[in-house]
Amino acid sequence: MIKPLPYVGKIQPYIPGKPIKEVERELGIKKAVKLASNENPLGPSPKVVQAIKEFLSIPEELARYPEGSGYYLKNALCEMFSKKGVKLSHEDIILGNGSNELIDIAVKTYIGPGDEAIMAKPSFVVYAMSVISQGGIAKEIPLKDWRHDLEGMLKDITDRTKIIFIANPNNPTGTMNYKEEFEKFMNELPENILVIMDEAYYEYVNTPDYPDTLRYFQQGRDILILRTFSKAYGLASLRIGYGIAKEEIIREMNRIREPFNTNTIAQVAAEAALRDEEHLKKVLQINEEGKKYLYKELDKIKVIKYLPSQTNFIYIILPENTSSKDVFESLLKEGVIIRPAGPREIRVTIGLEEENEAFIKSFRKFFNIGG
Ligand SMILES: Cc1ncc(COP(=O)(O)O)c(C=O)c1O
Repeated sequence: MIKPLPYVGKIQPYIPGKPIKEVERELGIKKAVKLASNENPLGPSPKVVQAIKEFLSIPEELARYPEGSGYYLKNALCEMFSKKGVKLSHEDIILGNGSNELIDIAVKTYIGPGDEAIMAKPSFVVYAMSVISQGGIAKEIPLKDWRHDLEGMLKDITDRTKIIFIANPNNPTGTMNYKEEFEKFMNELPENILVIMDEAYYEYVNTPDYPDTLRYFQQGRDILILRTFSKAYGLASLRIGYGIAKEEIIREMNRIREPFNTNTIAQVAAEAALRDEEHLKKVLQINEEGKKYLYKELDKIKVIKYLPSQTNFIYIILPENTSSKDVFESLLKEGVIIRPAGPREIRVTIGLEEENEAFIKSFRKFFNIGG
């Protein structure tokens, strides 16, 4: 039988959150609560839905290949960034089938067999998958105090290091690295290494200490900033994200990119999403309210700890001898889907009010706490 490449067997397959329909089928219930994949519980802006409907009103358009360059979406991005005082041109932007695909494209562009990429552990698991799939070596540096150990990452650099991944804020911990320490990291970083700043949760961050990574792009550094429409913009199903880097980097990545990697509906939807700032504000407000409620309720469960989050999810550390698998299964029976994130850790997405309440109820039940 045909054999896969030797490194394929080393890849840990990605385990997605359990789908809501599957749980409903299994339990014979109508409304399961999914807080497992950091999705946006409010969904996209009504203006996005309208834009998609308008697109579908000309069905012949479905027969046309998308405009691979994403001209109109790039215009909307340039406009949005220009309002924030950042001048971008189309040549500085690459669109991806989710920011996930951009991770893959960057790795294919810069990592060959034996090359190294540095990333944190735990962090977004796709980095290692992608690097290993190219025959590269994924060097995983444990978090320090639940945050990226930027100094430790610098110490692990060798002549073969090509990429450093920093998820900021990090998934699954929801923690972030601050402006000052990032500045130090960038000052000490040797040349010819690409820093991939994965800012999938960027819109949720609400502290002025957040690193202004666009500054390093403006300085011409080897940095690729990744953002997505899957989270705060509520478009996870359409698969669309974008990367910002200097022209020379985007040009090389475009050689690897499939010609029609983002579909027209996703482009139309993302453009409309960017233009509805009010909806984004509402999403962020609901997330903040949900976070406050969950903090308040989690504080009452004395046996657990949780990490303050800069995102739309919370990382919870269970008591000793409590397995995340047991919690996952117990909550699942109540129709609440969360995500085990380690042997004793779970990750819970912040949902709508009634979803958060359902989680707290089933979580308290697991610990035999009434109320
Ligand atoms: C840190 C991080 N990066 C990237 C992604 C991928 O997002 P996308 O849907 O844009 O591919 C995720 C998704 O969960 C994530 O948590």
